[in-house]
Amino acid sequence: MELTSDEVMKRLDRKGYLDIHIPKELDLVSAIKRLKKEKKAVLLAHYYQEAEIQELADYLGDSLYLAQAAKEVKAETIVFAGVHFMAETAKIVNPSKKVILPDLNAGCSLADSCPPEEFKKFINQYPGAHIVTYINCSAEIKALSTIVCTSSNAIKVIDSIPKGETIIFAPDKNLGQYLIKETGRDMILWDGSCIVHEAFSFERIVTLAKENPKAKFIAHPESQSQVLNIAHYIGSTSGLLNYVQSDSSKCFIVATEAGILHEMKKRCPEKTFIPAPVEDETCACSECAFMKLNTLEKLYLCLEHEQPEVQLSDSLIEKAKIPINRMLKLG
Ligand code: 13P
Ligand code: SF4
Repeated sequence: MELTSDEVMKRLDRKGYLDIHIPKELDLVSAIKRLKKEKKAVLLAHYYQEAEIQELADYLGDSLYLAQAAKEVKAETIVFAGVHFMAETAKIVNPSKKVILPDLNAGCSLADSCPPEEFKKFINQYPGAHIVTYINCSAEIKALSTIVCTSSNAIKVIDSIPKGETIIFAPDKNLGQYLIKETGRDMILWDGSCIVHEAFSFERIVTLAKENPKAKFIAHPESQSQVLNIAHYIGSTSGLLNYVQSDSSKCFIVATEAGILHEMKKRCPEKTFIPAPVEDETCACSECAFMKLNTLEKLYLCLEHEQPEVQLSDSLIEKAKIPINRMLKLG
């Protein structure tokens, strides 16, 4: 059945593509590879995607790497297998490209925790403050910022602000608390958090570590301070990957989204990786439900119909570009 782009959008709004027929016999992996060539598209994917999507990526990485890669893309179309703020960032740094994503509903609890109108009121209480925002926020929040950071370069970004200046950090209070400790800078924090990284259970991690005394415990800085305090290493997804490669330990308990284990196992097939346990034993909470909205089927349909597309006004792109480019200049 041939559908116009408008029809595809209507169905996506209603059901997220689920009622669009894909022939059963279609080899999705080959079809996606073919479509990427035909549509002159490159696939950028985050480490939290399903393994099968990671395997198809032209660029696979953490938030910083993907923002840097998006800026350099020469192809006509960027298909972004990640969450919405990442696809938006790609559009902001490379606005002449068409940026599409498999599911428009792939949001982020951190981005959702920071509505622009409330944030404006918050920052207006501190005139002259430097507004440092974690890249996990909307384009509107970025447009209100002095500089953006990711978990890979947050310390460098904070250090780049002259001592004695007032700093507001948003939206992640856990990353913010970690940065206050690491940089020794006093910062005003927005009260946001990541539902995935807040789900880890301190008590169950301690029990697991006792059962695996040789294992190193490693964590993403979006985790709560109680969890971070017992970590052998804290870092972004690429930081965690580098650590497991360079450290001599053979076993690691990993407190971040479980998708990262695919690349860890690929890089270190001889090592063991155990996902850190969450509070609710009945739930796969260490998987980001937003990231996992992207499937091979939706990736195929998104390439086929070149929809849904990230749409941002020129004026928003111009404003949001300034703090992102400040970050990219720092490296
Ligand atoms: P990094 O990719 O910067 O490590 O961030 C993880 C994350 O939560 C992305 O949403
Ligand atoms: Fe957002 Fe957390 Fe999912 Fe990352 S893991 S996209 S911070 S909800």
